[in-house]
Amino acid sequence: MSDNLHKLRCFGCGQLIHGDQAGPNFRCADCGDLFEVIYPGWNQTGGTDRPNAGALKWLWRERRLSQETLDQSGVWRFRELLPILDRQENAVTLREGNTPLYALPIAARALGLESLFAKHQGMNPTGSFKDTGMTSALSVARERGFTWVACASTGNTSAAMAAYAARAGLRSLVLIPQGKIAWGKLSQAMDYGAVTCQLETDFDGCVRVLSHIVQEAPIYLLNSVNPYRLEGQKTPALEIAEAMDWNVPDHILVPGGNLANSSALGKGFREMKELGLIHRLPRITVIQAEGSAPLSRSFAANGGTSLEPVEAHTRATAIRIGNPASWRKAAQVIHETGGWCLDVTEGEIAVAKAELGREGIGSEPASAVTLAGLRKLVADGRIGRSESVVLLLTGHTLKDADYTIDFHRGTLLQPEEAAPVAAAMEPLCRNAMSVDATPQAVLAALRSVAEMQPARG
Ligand code: F0G
Repeated sequence: MSDNLHKLRCFGCGQLIHGDQAGPNFRCADCGDLFEVIYPGWNQTGGTDRPNAGALKWLWRERRLSQETLDQSGVWRFRELLPILDRQENAVTLREGNTPLYALPIAARALGLESLFAKHQGMNPTGSFKDTGMTSALSVARERGFTWVACASTGNTSAAMAAYAARAGLRSLVLIPQGKIAWGKLSQAMDYGAVTCQLETDFDGCVRVLSHIVQEAPIYLLNSVNPYRLEGQKTPALEIAEAMDWNVPDHILVPGGNLANSSALGKGFREMKELGLIHRLPRITVIQAEGSAPLSRSFAANGGTSLEPVEAHTRATAIRIGNPASWRKAAQVIHETGGWCLDVTEGEIAVAKAELGREGIGSEPASAVTLAGLRKLVADGRIGRSESVVLLLTGHTLKDADYTIDFHRGTLLQPEEAAPVAAAMEPLCRNAMSVDATPQAVLAALRSVAEMQPARG
């Protein structure tokens, strides 16, 4: 029996097609826009097959105790909301999802907030939120009989794709911008056996090349234009709501690159509301890096109605993207939920990352834009002190150890970037010391640390 209950709807013109009718680039043949997955039984007007909210909550919680492979995935645990496969046995999983929701007491105190949490998607099997979308989309690739999959990437997508492809016994092709991704990510793609091509261009250039390749060869495209990616990536929204006993926070802050993640989370919350699992939507706000902020510029210039691509520059390499594919979907989510789009400087990102680190929460630079953005929103009164906030941290700190080391050595930022955040940076920088291999030398080093407190007891 087929478990598959979905269709694809064009985000631009509304055309409905069957899942296997999408072209290799996942663009509508009529208007060129992207598709989204819909479930006519319950998320379209007139749908009569709505699952019962109470029963779903019970079932999903029960599955947390189950030893079944699919139940142990924090994506497939919610499979009633992503019936995209003909046969569930085709799901390729590495036990993704079920990531921690950490309280951030130090940052909350510093900002005067009562409730601040971080949903850490970097705690996924390959160290980023991409795993949640890869388990769903790569499973579709396997079910449709593809032997090759491919993506263009700033690093994390390629690591996730390569791992899930290896798991499924598929071959994978990765296109990445030469010299512009963190080594930690490149090394993963290589280790998981991907054919890895570094192209003398940026991410947007890699996307252009790949869109030609998939027209020529039977290779399944796993960039986030593939709508099945978003189905897995919506599940952290379910996890957040579940962890908060089906109340949602007032605000969710998400880093924005290609803008699929914010779109997916918005879809997750929207669907939960349609099904009566939650009763309101959180405001979803997208934060970009100043040098890679086409959507933020678009909101400032025209309220997010049109977007001018930019040449992207930021040390937060994961979000160095100038021509985001999913910007219309993200703009809709921001409008629908009453959120905002803003950008933060290189200095603000570096400080925010170290502040998260100070409370034991490592993240990659692209994730730290959320805390930097939060500071701005609190300062200008858009986020009130009694409102609850969840930051989406998207990548693991070890993805880009060079960035962290350069920050603590004081070599990361140019003087003009560091100057506006110098006061915040100073107490955060912790360079490693070279010390003689004697107890006396280490004790002397300890004494030299200004804020060293006398030993207790
Ligand atoms: N954070 C991290 C760690 C990322 O890797 C990305 C995107 C984003 C945020 C932005 O998410 O694109 O959905 O808005 N990384 C890409 C990649 C595109 O190829 O790994 P988005």
